[in-house]
Amino acid sequence: MLELPQGTNKMKEGRHDETDNLLSTKANLELSLSMDGLEIPWSDLVLKERIGAGSFGTVHHADWHGSDVAVKILIEQDFHEERLKEFLREVAIMKRLRHPNVVLFMGAVLSRPNLSIVTEYLPRGSLYRLIHRPGTREILDERRRLRMALDVAKGMNHLHRLNPPIVHRDLKSPNLLVDKTWTVKVCDFGLSRLKANTFLSSKSAAGTPEWMAPEVLRDEPSNEKSDVYSFGVILWELITLQQPWSGLNAAQVVGAVGFQNRRLQIPKDVKPDIAAIIEACWANDSRKRPSFASIMELLKPLVKPPTPQPIRGVTLPPA
Ligand SMILES: Nc1ncnc2c1ncn2[C@@H]1O[C@H](COP(=O)(O)OP(=O)(O)OP(=O)(O)O)[C@@H](O)[C@H]1O
Ligand SMILES: [Mg+2]
Repeated sequence: MLELPQGTNKMKEGRHDETDNLLSTKANLELSLSMDGLEIPWSDLVLKERIGAGSFGTVHHADWHGSDVAVKILIEQDFHEERLKEFLREVAIMKRLRHPNVVLFMGAVLSRPNLSIVTEYLPRGSLYRLIHRPGTREILDERRRLRMALDVAKGMNHLHRLNPPIVHRDLKSPNLLVDKTWTVKVCDFGLSRLKANTFLSSKSAAGTPEWMAPEVLRDEPSNEKSDVYSFGVILWELITLQQPWSGLNAAQVVGAVGFQNRRLQIPKDVKPDIAAIIEACWANDSRKRPSFASIMELLKPLVKPPTPQPIRGVTLPPA
């Protein structure tokens, strides 16, 4: 789906023999303490098939001590000192995150040229793939899809409620993963600052502006509410099962959303409560968009099983 920026092949082919361990330098001692027990030796990983490629690197299914994991090998391996520290800091943040709707971070490979992030492996892959596969409407009814939206809101609420909050900045259906029981988990938070390409190039044909808030497309500062806009697009995808802005190229999406204030069309048959949530997420003034805590409250009644009908005046307890 995404074009790989140049440099990927160089990284894949040009493995150097000598590895340069980032944690061995004195300057990184402090960071190394917070990385305790997080470093995974590259040689412990048995890479299997490639499951994806994005702007940070390629993702492989792998075996780590007999467990299934996903390994994201970073495209950019020759960071400078500052960027390396940033990478280590991000990794230390990911280590602290524990929530059922946030992908479990398991460790990182800290030696070049194999700088990688290791997470749990989710066998159903991304929500994007699931939504845009034929037959999804039959496999996942609307209530189940709303439950998936609620999962996303719970995971995002967790990230936003941290101190300091984590703003995802790249919330989109390819960054939502689905497990065996259809639970949805957020991934790739905090990584957006490590993208190999610059923001401007990510807006080009290789980027995915479909989920980005208008202020982000205009290159203005983003905040938690930019993630809420993106959530609105995800809820729209879950309800319509359509591709956002399918007729437009990336530059046209930037123009339409960022500069002409256009929004995706909500079909007339969408329930008014759901349409209202989507529209609120897309408010032009980011302060008017709801928080994930309120989105959760709005979604909860919509995913509740239908209340049992009274039979001859007796109400049956829920199963
Ligand atoms: N932990 C995982 N388990 C299963 N599949 C995964 C996992 N992580 C990533 N994938 C798959 O790999 C794909 C590519 O992921 P990647 O994050 O590299 O690219 P992206 O999400 O399309 O774009 P971006 O780089 O902007 O995040 C995902 O869409 C998903 O299908
Ligand atoms: Mg991703």
